[in-house]
Amino acid sequence: MNSVVKYTVRDGIAVITINNQPVNALGFDVRDGLINAINAANNNGDVSAILLRAQGRTFPAGADIKEFGLPPRAPSLPDVCNTIENSSKPVVAAIHGTTLGGGFELALAAHYRIAHKDTKVGFPEVNLGLLPGAGGTQRLPRLSGGLPALNLIMTGKQVNAQFALKRNMIDAISEDNLLMVGLKMALKLGQRKTPITATKDRRDGMQDPVSYQKVMRMRRSELPDDGMFVPGKIIDCVEAALLLPFESGLAFEREMFEDCLASEQSKALRHVFIAERKAAKIPELETGTARDVKTVGIVGGGLMGAGIAVVMLTAGMTVKMIERDQESLHLGLSRIKAILDGNLSSGRITKGAHEAQLNHLSGTLDYNDFADVDLAIEAIFEDKTAKENVFKNLNNVLRDDAILATNTSYLDIDELAQTVDRPENVIGLHFFSPAHIMKLLEVVVAGKTSPDVVATGFALAKSIRKIPVRAGVTDGFIGNRIFKAYRAAVEFIVEDGASPYQVDAAMRAFGFKLGPFQVFDLAGLDIAWAQRKRAAATRDPKARYVSFADKICEKNWFGRKTGQGYYTYEKGVQIGKEDPRVLEIIVAERKAQNIQPRAFTDKEIQDRVLAAMINEGARLLDEKIALRPSDIDVVMIHGYGFPRWRGGPMKQADIRGLIYVQSKLRALEKEEPLFWKPSGLIGDLMKNGKGFDALNG
Ligand code: 3HC
Repeated sequence: MNSVVKYTVRDGIAVITINNQPVNALGFDVRDGLINAINAANNNGDVSAILLRAQGRTFPAGADIKEFGLPPRAPSLPDVCNTIENSSKPVVAAIHGTTLGGGFELALAAHYRIAHKDTKVGFPEVNLGLLPGAGGTQRLPRLSGGLPALNLIMTGKQVNAQFALKRNMIDAISEDNLLMVGLKMALKLGQRKTPITATKDRRDGMQDPVSYQKVMRMRRSELPDDGMFVPGKIIDCVEAALLLPFESGLAFEREMFEDCLASEQSKALRHVFIAERKAAKIPELETGTARDVKTVGIVGGGLMGAGIAVVMLTAGMTVKMIERDQESLHLGLSRIKAILDGNLSSGRITKGAHEAQLNHLSGTLDYNDFADVDLAIEAIFEDKTAKENVFKNLNNVLRDDAILATNTSYLDIDELAQTVDRPENVIGLHFFSPAHIMKLLEVVVAGKTSPDVVATGFALAKSIRKIPVRAGVTDGFIGNRIFKAYRAAVEFIVEDGASPYQVDAAMRAFGFKLGPFQVFDLAGLDIAWAQRKRAAATRDPKARYVSFADKICEKNWFGRKTGQGYYTYEKGVQIGKEDPRVLEIIVAERKAQNIQPRAFTDKEIQDRVLAAMINEGARLLDEKIALRPSDIDVVMIHGYGFPRWRGGPMKQADIRGLIYVQSKLRALEKEEPLFWKPSGLIGDLMKNGKGFDALNG
């Protein structure tokens, strides 16, 4: 039919094969090819039935996300699904891989669905701020009922073929030769005397309309007040499937889909989907060749070291952990075992995997035992001299091609690299705590790091299922540099008149799960205090310094771990209580600085915080620390709780408009010139009529 849809006739069956790698996304050519192929089959007197299948790793995984936002091109996906459903010859969909979104909608429109036993089906649209827009909300409930349909569409989760069969989402499972089984079924349906009932005319899942509507009411009453509007629309559509004739239901769904597509939430979520994948594309992959990493040595058995060890063991690697004494080693290994035991008891891993992972783990006090590791990661406390000593020890024992990685959050990796004979083997692997849970990995490329070593970092990230982002060397890399600006912005706001509790509430209203002062309490106020003390000697005397945080630390209030920080924490309770004594300290400091407190609106707080983050992000781009704006968004979403549906700070800059951001910065610059001075990059982009997106490539 065309380059991505193949049409052949075999024993009276029209076999339509989609071949649009990598995931057979339903772009224009596929849609066009499918319509032509279905029509050709219907016009061919020798054809009795149609088999719809796909080549490669999966039946279509959905509409082509890259086409969203472009002018629509007919035929649309709903047209294709309707053509399949209205085909005068029965259509059998033979599905495999991850049959998702529009791909699953194609299958639902067919007259019969056979899935390979390893198939997963699902509607991930909600993760893109969308709902199924090609009949999924109307056809699925007709087959499997309101509740299973809602569960699938609202969670975006994939379910396996066995589950899908039980819920009537598919009709059969094929153990192996899907093509042959599909052909057989098509032949059988082609010989039927009576036509098979189309999905649109079925009501299998709607036998009990009273319960169906009760479920809809219940789900609507349970909707969280989190600013997301898609879930409510999904319920409306699934309810419409029961209440409206099929054609009206389809029209209703389409309207809801278009609303979602045009929304800022969906634009932001689609941006993040693309950004997460783009982050893995780095220049070093063009010249570098990844080295094999099978054995990893980890220095330090603290929370971070243990978490990293679990990540490596989970990916099937061998892990050796080194500690300074027997007691610390025992503690480190016990930490790892506790996490692995937890994974076993929660069913995340099997007994066999648990046993294998423990067998792959060993501990040592002797650096000589690291002679055979492919990669050594130092994960000790944040102290330059201590880390340099670790590197010197590693330098003495590692193979020439072994990689030396540091998990430092701030220290200068170029300086660390100078302590070893082969600085080209040195790289930063900045995991986020808890390392076995957080998805982000900043891969920090130092001045002399070789492309092979960078490529290894990215290949490793893929095998341990992390989202890698390339960063250059600077104090705090990408994430902590922006977090520092975030901290400064909120401390200024508090010193100028808002309470930490108002700031937290404003940022939660923006979409963060925790406000900044809650995060400071969680991370430990002493850590930032120590950093401030270290930086005191080199701080620009003209820079504004907010002192209330020091006063709180002087009372030994270090946050959640000490039961007291900006909030008071009762034993066993995670959420802290506001504390008037904290406010008294802040009031006293304002007086000492001669600051007249003023009121802030929540919007003002959010605007200032965003302006600070965006400006710091622009500086990171200007300094070539971050490769592209979307990488910064990925870091802030996966490492710092920036709401995914807001797209990240740089996407927010584009949504708000750079002129808006710049005018805010200019106004703030009058208050504190050093901190708020707009990055030159913002002005440069504006001059060329561009946004940050232009730099995403
Ligand atoms: N459209 C366009 N490109 C897509 C795509 C899609 N729907 N799904 C994946 N891709 C691309 C990725 O961008 C990536 O491209 P790259 O190689 O250039 O980076 C490539 O396919 C491989 O994807 P992954 O790296 O994610 O591969 P994985 O094997 O890890 O995962 C997957 C495969 C599970 C299919 C995953 O890609 C995925 O979840 N895709 C999104 C599925 C989705 O959201 N479908 C619904 C789309 S909306 C829709 O259908 C609307 C309809 O109802 C009208």
